[in-house]
Amino acid sequence: MIVTIDGPAGVGKSTVGRLLAERLRIAFLDTGALYRAVALAAQWAGLDPRDQAVVEAWLTRIDLEVSLRGGRFAVLLEGREVEPFIRNEQIGSLASQFSALAPVRRFLLETQQNAARLGDLVAEGRDMGTVVFPRAEAKFFLTATDQARAHRRWLQLREQGQEADEAAVLAELRQRDQRDESRALSPCVPAPDAV
Ligand code: DC
Repeated sequence: MIVTIDGPAGVGKSTVGRLLAERLRIAFLDTGALYRAVALAAQWAGLDPRDQAVVEAWLTRIDLEVSLRGGRFAVLLEGREVEPFIRNEQIGSLASQFSALAPVRRFLLETQQNAARLGDLVAEGRDMGTVVFPRAEAKFFLTATDQARAHRRWLQLREQGQEADEAAVLAELRQRDQRDESRALSPCVPAPDAV
């Protein structure tokens, strides 16, 4: 069984997805973490999202994998968990920029579909119900106002001890949504059969 949850930044996809996966006793896949991991590795490599050809060649050498650990998929770069390094606004914004590139989406499509071969899962992201798992048994699309989402994000950042200005978080979130919703490839839109 595959359950998909899509929606814009800060809407609560991970919170809901994690709880749902726990309740159903199946795995949880946060695909934003994969895009964030690519962005982090690209930053380490000094790459610019405008250089698509360079990024495409570099992707053949990236060592990225997902590993099922205690009910959740961990994302590993060169064998190391990326989680501690990817939860900040800078990587979120970079992930959004790299995620618009065709080679990046092609590369991660395979990674995501391979994860589903390991068993049932709840998958959250932007294009789970539309592109990655079009035949999923249950599809959801979450929405909330920009202000509510920015406020959640701001609270999360504060909890992590990061200094953040709520108005700046709101501006960054709107810019990211605009990019994720208007891009040509796999834009963040509800699948026709999503609740
Ligand atoms: O959900 P998130 O904030 O961790 O995602 C970071 C960025 O990755 C998001 O702005 C767009 C991109 N993304 C995507 O294009 N497709 C997905 N399925 C998940 C994330």
